[in-house]
Amino acid sequence: MTKARRLGVSTPVLYAVDPILYTLTFEYVEGCSVKDILLEIGSNDGDSKQLSDIAMQIGVAIGKLHDGGLIHGDLTTSNMLIRNGTNDLVLIDFGLSFTSTIPEDKAVDLYVLERALLSMHSSCGNLMELILASYRKTSKQWSSTSNKLAQVRQRGRKRTMVG
Ligand SMILES: Nc1ncnc2c1ncn2[C@@H]1O[C@H](COP(=O)(O)OP(=O)(O)OP(=O)(O)O)[C@@H](O)[C@H]1O
Ligand SMILES: [Mg+2]
Repeated sequence: MTKARRLGVSTPVLYAVDPILYTLTFEYVEGCSVKDILLEIGSNDGDSKQLSDIAMQIGVAIGKLHDGGLIHGDLTTSNMLIRNGTNDLVLIDFGLSFTSTIPEDKAVDLYVLERALLSMHSSCGNLMELILASYRKTSKQWSSTSNKLAQVRQRGRKRTMVG
C-alpha cells in the first residue's frame, strides 16, 4: 500500500504496525465502494459522467501501479472506494499484491478486473473499454501488456499446464 502511494495512487494511510499483535492500523476512508456506486448507476440508468470519471481514475491508478512494477492481485470493485465529499478513487485490499514487471502478471491483473466487471456490472455498458482507454494513456508499457491481455483472454487466467 505504501509503495502504491509512492507511485501516486491513493490508498488509506498506514498508521501503525504492531509486530507483537501482528496488526496493521489503517486510516478509515469514509465513503462508498465503487461496487455500490456502479450497482446504483446500473440500476437506474444513472450518471454516465460519474461512471466515465470513475473508469478514467481506475485506468490511471492501475497504469501507475503497473508501470511502477506493482500488481494489485485482486482488482474488483469491492476493493475500490470513493472518498466522501470528493470523487476520488482509493484502492484497498493489497493482501494479494506483489511486485512484478512481467507483462503476463499485468495482463492477468487486468483480466481479473474484466471478468469481475462482466459478472457484477454488465448493466454499466463497456466499462472495461473506458478503463483500458485511460490505462493506455497512462502506461508506457501499454503495447506489451495489451498483447498479453489478448492472449490471456483466449486462454483464461491460468497458464496451460503441459507435462
Ligand atoms: N481503510 C478502509 N477504510 C474504509 N473501509 C475499508 C477500509 N479497508 C477496508 N474497508 C472495507 O472493508 C471491506 C473488506 O476489506 P478488504 O477488502 O481489505 O478485506 P477482504 O479480505 O477483501 O474482505 P472481504 O472478503 O470482505 O472483501 C472493504 O470492501 C471495504 O468496504
Ligand atoms: Mg476486499
